[in-house]
Amino acid sequence: MQIIHHLADMTRWSNEVIAGGKALALVPTMGYFHAGHLSLMRQAGRLADHVVVSLFVNSLQFGPREDLSRYPRDLQRDARLAENEKVDILFVPTSEEMYAPDFNTRVRVNGITDTLCGQQRPTHFEGVTTVVAKLFNIIKPHCAVFGQKDFQQLSVIRKMVRELNWDIEIFAHPIVREEDGLAMSSRNTYLSSEERSKALCLNKAIQHAKARFADGLDDSDLLISEIRDIISANSGVSIDYISVVDKDTLSDKEVIDSQSVLALAIKVGGTRLIDNCFMGSDSQISN
Ligand code: PAJ
Repeated sequence: MQIIHHLADMTRWSNEVIAGGKALALVPTMGYFHAGHLSLMRQAGRLADHVVVSLFVNSLQFGPREDLSRYPRDLQRDARLAENEKVDILFVPTSEEMYAPDFNTRVRVNGITDTLCGQQRPTHFEGVTTVVAKLFNIIKPHCAVFGQKDFQQLSVIRKMVRELNWDIEIFAHPIVREEDGLAMSSRNTYLSSEERSKALCLNKAIQHAKARFADGLDDSDLLISEIRDIISANSGVSIDYISVVDKDTLSDKEVIDSQSVLALAIKVGGTRLIDNCFMGSDSQISN
């Protein structure tokens, strides 16, 4: 595995691969790899001849009071883990090269970025779409893999790719969980052991929702109030949102159906955690 830091070197490598007729898959990340990231890399390896993983803690997607400065970073550890997954290139650009001092371009998807996480984090998704657009242009992948864990991010990226006519296939990867059901996240490292056990209320809520829907409950207000009770039973946990939305439009659903997604965001102490599930089945967003 090669580590590339410079944008021009990255594009040169991609151009050679593409000229040789080989397919290239990209897995964009912010690093501090866990089994979820590694699983995305494995999927990428099945999809293409070569895999590029980008590792860039993207300042543009953090709000002014968010955790940019304390976001966990360990390049040596990440390089070791990526190497084991047969990644060809770990692309680790510098902020200086990605964002010149006068950088002033944003790629923004309107509408679906106003709800759910976009409500609490108004500039978050334009930070994500801007950096992903740059990565697509620098790396020129044939396909890219994103996690279902960030369900809204995935929808926003799919919409951007469609509307900007990028010939890049976007693949969704199922949520990878710890044995006890907590969705893996680099931010789980912030949790104390007490907070970590409280965070399990997310998975408890998801299991409850699936069971209630299987039993015939289709009233989203009722389900949301039951989930509110499950989460509120934990002191020190606050709710950002509990929503049942359409998997494509992300608009609220009054009546739950197989196209609905339950999306949750909570704060455990100072740590913001998200999770979601498809109500219909364990199936993912279609390509
Ligand atoms: P990051 O949080 O590092 O996540 C990188 C990729 O891993 C994303 O596609 C995310 O959805 C996926 N992922 C994270 N946890 C997962 C889990 N438990 N199971 C499955 N997939 C999981 O998401 C970002 O970085 C950034 O916003 C990025 C897209 C790189 C743009 O900066």
